[in-house]
Amino acid sequence: MLLKAIQKAGRTAFELPQKLLSYAFGNSLNPLGYLGSLTIFFLWIVLISGIWITIFFHTSVVGAFESVEYMTVDQWYLGGVMRSLHRYASDAAIVTLVLHILKEFSFERYRSARWFSWVTGVPLLWLIIPLGITGYWLVWDQLALYVALTSSEMLDALPIFTDPMARNFLTVDSLSDRFFTLLAFTHIVGLPIFLVFAIWIHVFRINRPKVNPPRKLMVGALLAMLVLSIVYPALSQGKADPSLVPQSLALDWYYLLVYPLLNYWPPATVWVLLIGFSLLICIAPWLPPARKPAVVEVDLENCNGCERCVEDCPFGAVEMAPRSDGTKYASEAVVIADLCLSCGICVGACPTATPFRKRAALSPGIDLPDQSIATVREMVTAATLNLEGNRRLLVFACEGSHAPEKFIDAETAVVSLTCMAQLPPAFVDWVLSRDHADGVVLQGCPHGDCQYRLGAKWTEQRMSRERDPQLRKRVDTEKLALLWTEPWSDFPATGKAIAAFRDTLAAPAEKVSTRLTPRKHRLRPLGVALAWSLFAVSSVLFTVWPRFSQLTEGNAIISLSFSHAGQRRQACHKLSQEELNKLAPNMRNPFDCPRERYPIHVSFSVDGQVLYNENVLPSGLWDDGESTVYHRIELPAGSHKLSIGMSDSGRQQGFDFSGQTELTLAAGQQAVVEFDNLQKTFIFR
Ligand code: HEM
Ligand code: SF4
Ligand code: SF4
Repeated sequence: MLLKAIQKAGRTAFELPQKLLSYAFGNSLNPLGYLGSLTIFFLWIVLISGIWITIFFHTSVVGAFESVEYMTVDQWYLGGVMRSLHRYASDAAIVTLVLHILKEFSFERYRSARWFSWVTGVPLLWLIIPLGITGYWLVWDQLALYVALTSSEMLDALPIFTDPMARNFLTVDSLSDRFFTLLAFTHIVGLPIFLVFAIWIHVFRINRPKVNPPRKLMVGALLAMLVLSIVYPALSQGKADPSLVPQSLALDWYYLLVYPLLNYWPPATVWVLLIGFSLLICIAPWLPPARKPAVVEVDLENCNGCERCVEDCPFGAVEMAPRSDGTKYASEAVVIADLCLSCGICVGACPTATPFRKRAALSPGIDLPDQSIATVREMVTAATLNLEGNRRLLVFACEGSHAPEKFIDAETAVVSLTCMAQLPPAFVDWVLSRDHADGVVLQGCPHGDCQYRLGAKWTEQRMSRERDPQLRKRVDTEKLALLWTEPWSDFPATGKAIAAFRDTLAAPAEKVSTRLTPRKHRLRPLGVALAWSLFAVSSVLFTVWPRFSQLTEGNAIISLSFSHAGQRRQACHKLSQEELNKLAPNMRNPFDCPRERYPIHVSFSVDGQVLYNENVLPSGLWDDGESTVYHRIELPAGSHKLSIGMSDSGRQQGFDFSGQTELTLAAGQQAVVEFDNLQKTFIFR
């Protein structure tokens, strides 16, 4: 199936970076395991640097650019660094965010009960991108002008404003400081508040969400951004000048990816694309509907209300409720079926899930109907029955392990589980003390990047006796190996590791030097530095390359931009006394003026060739408002004869107003044709 093939390709693409990063950082610090929390950390940098910038920023047309220049040039050592941090951390957040989405998708961590986190991610995109866009707008350089015009054209396609917003950015006179204040408020206060709230909603259903990355990763991320800011400071692209259209812009593709589409498609089409794409992401968890395995069930007879299942469930799918069966315990576990992913981690947490129990029907307080703990006990007994020799290994493999059955031989048995943390530590004790095997391998998801979020962590903590239920002290941990599988392609490496562990089992005790239980990984400084450098480059690369050109080289732009009210379709009619008497006293207006206006007809030609010829309807519910013309025309630079005519009286022939001029346009120049409603003349600027 296509979807499966795309996901497989995605997983394969993650494989090599994941492996290299694990080599440099170790499994527990692999940055690919903290993409969501790294995004949050970069947003923190954005927030703090943003506060500094706000102190020096002037929210006015004249002051905005100057104040940013002051920070960048005069105060480069602090303001400039803060500005660069603000920009690059924003871009870094998009890099980690895109990886976060791709990873959740490729590893299928967005379906079933996870739909909530996935769907609530979509509004985050709709907040974070406008946050970046409004940020670029505030700088009021040439890129800002492009952003202002293009954003306005997008917004003008929505039925919100009667007067096109884009007209505000065509001439210097049309700009107002009030607009800048509104924009600054949106960027600094409005959008961030919604973003914080939306992030909270995004993670609030998850148990112990990784909101902060480990400290070492934070230090690395901050240093990477700081070095980048000092080595390659963020700069503005020349003061905004509405009379010029820059031939080439360094576009921030992370935030402005869709804007160049407006060169080819009308804004309405781009909206349809964006909304359609968002809806597609929203319904992705149900495409096609996933088969939901049976969720865990609580057996009150065996539940003592210890709350460990609540503590350990990664998805908040178990809660405690007052006891309902009249026993001495105060509370009981209750499963919220809609949130349960049937990972079995709660079963591994339950103190009653012990294979030593004498009763034939081993029934813990909480259990998976499709793979009960009694079934696991039977599977172990059956799998190990015919093992030979004194180096017999039992490998417990979780569903993320790659083809564990390949390891089966005369000395090795394999039992597959959903998640490694489904295995109560008592099983390791039982396997070894009842002589089912000489050693136990727990083979979990690649790099400990648990498919069920916390399975790897809980397994490590339970086996190293830091978390309840703990591995009993009597278990010889030299006989236990925790082996987070190498990725799919690395089957031989996993095989080698298992063989190495088997060798230690047969070796005399004093010769055993390695144990495959989790070891503290030492960071490899060169690898770590290289990884952060590459990350820093990836955060800046698409803000400067490829450059974007709004205009074909050597062309200029003419914008038609004006509003004018057509004449009323019917003249006012003076009411006779008789007609007035028929009206209620408070309605007796001596004139009856029908409100409806004519559309205006505008025809614009360049060098005798008609390039715009439209009937523009009046605005307003009653067709009584102004008609508004906003249209941009690209044409070769040079001298041109411009001619425009407008009729507002519904006449079929000729124009009520007209204007002509000859303009010499330089390449990249923008001229504007306006209509002065007081003087009733066209103005060419
Ligand atoms: C500002 C943007 C975002 C931030 C800061 C963010 C952050 C996070 C964090 C911190 C987690 C918890 C990770 C864990 O503890 O395992 C998470 C989970 C998740 N996020 Fe995001 N996220 C963002 C956007 C998105 C988007 C756009 C999507 C997809 C459309 C998405 C999909 C998911 C999913 C499916 C999970 C649940 C993973 C699981 O249950 O294993 N996120 N996110
Ligand atoms: S099976 Fe997994 S998701 Fe379901 S309640 Fe247990 S720990 Fe939570
Ligand atoms: S871990 Fe087991 S005994 Fe404890 S509350 Fe959950 S189901 Fe009950």
